[in-house]
Amino acid sequence: MTGGTRPQVRVFPDPEALSRAAAEFFTAISNKSIASRGRFVVALSGGSTPRRLYALLGSPPYQNDVDWKQVHIFWADERCVPQYHAESNFKLAVDTLLSRVAIPQENIHRIKGEDGPERAAEEYERDIRSFFGPASLPVFDLIILGAGEDGHTASLFPGSPALRETTRLAAPVHLELPKPGRVTLTLPVLNHAVRTLFLAAGHAKAGVVHAILVNGNPLHYPAGLVQPVRGGVIWFVDKQAAGLLTTQGHT
Ligand code: 6PG
Repeated sequence: MTGGTRPQVRVFPDPEALSRAAAEFFTAISNKSIASRGRFVVALSGGSTPRRLYALLGSPPYQNDVDWKQVHIFWADERCVPQYHAESNFKLAVDTLLSRVAIPQENIHRIKGEDGPERAAEEYERDIRSFFGPASLPVFDLIILGAGEDGHTASLFPGSPALRETTRLAAPVHLELPKPGRVTLTLPVLNHAVRTLFLAAGHAKAGVVHAILVNGNPLHYPAGLVQPVRGGVIWFVDKQAAGLLTTQGHT
């Protein structure tokens, strides 16, 4: 099941411009979703790139431009560390955004990484199913993703068994020790979202951005396997990450 349309790509002069455009995008999509369906359901990622986006959303004017009471926050992935550990994706979102906006506590659907990969993945899948109801796959309004230099996205790493999941919504991920295990949304979920927004910035990402968007070899680059059935994939990249793209077809 793959989307038929090519990803849209928008190139920005620097990470600040990229983050501001992403905050505008988030605000517009949230308002649109709330107007049509009464809620906005988004999955966030960790990593360094979205930090500024979250901080912008947590401060004026975005802080007041989004109807946070109708927003539901999930995560694309989490590290199996204590809730407020420095590497926790939940902590990143709380520090930068969630502690600064009027979002009800019950709208925050975190992955309990501290329970370990297997249990946390099962619990998260249960939470997602109980929130979205009986449909076989949840439909997120927006999933915010990043891409590693190796092409991983969320916690779907090249060669990972989690990439082969076809029925589970959340999967455990084991990395080489001492790296903590992780929990990730699976490809069927990523590919069922209304929209997925990739954020990539910096020279180090130029190779992977080019490989995925131009040379697409999805088997080597899990981020290239994100091909939503509705076709709504958009990449926001800064000039450095876009360094190997030609300008043709990119705005
Ligand atoms: C995480 C992620 C991960 C991230 C990429 C890019 O929790 O680390 O969800 O997939 O998005 O590794 O990270 P950077 O933004 O730091 O480059």
